[in-house]
Amino acid sequence: MAREIASREGDGCRQHGLVTNSEPLNIHGVLADVTEHWSPRTIAVINDYDARVVKVEGEFTRHSHPETDEFFLVLSGRLTIRMDEGDVVLDDGDTYVVPRGRFHQPYAASEATLLLFEPSDAVNTGDTPSDLTAPRRLA
Ligand code: NI
Repeated sequence: MAREIASREGDGCRQHGLVTNSEPLNIHGVLADVTEHWSPRTIAVINDYDARVVKVEGEFTRHSHPETDEFFLVLSGRLTIRMDEGDVVLDDGDTYVVPRGRFHQPYAASEATLLLFEPSDAVNTGDTPSDLTAPRRLA
């Protein structure tokens, strides 16, 4: 892994600067360049949906998305999604869909990485803007 990342240095712009869908993109390489938590990177656009990777730690803003479901896949670590109905605990490889309009508060006691599928115009904090609201960023 370390060697693979090292070999990618220097071509970061070509590999990460645009989401063209025309070249393979390695999500581990994208995540290795991410230093902020709760700041998703769009790695692919599928019709009007984004595939996004994000590094998370700590407590996120409680919010809902009135217009859309939101898909989560845990790539590493453990994510707890606090819902009004109870906590959903997701480990490496687990998937979950938060239904549209349901309040959810993601929480990670230690660093975790996630893959998300959501509409390209979806904002990470949904209907509850906060300091953690992040602009759409392409990998
Ligand atoms: Ni959400």
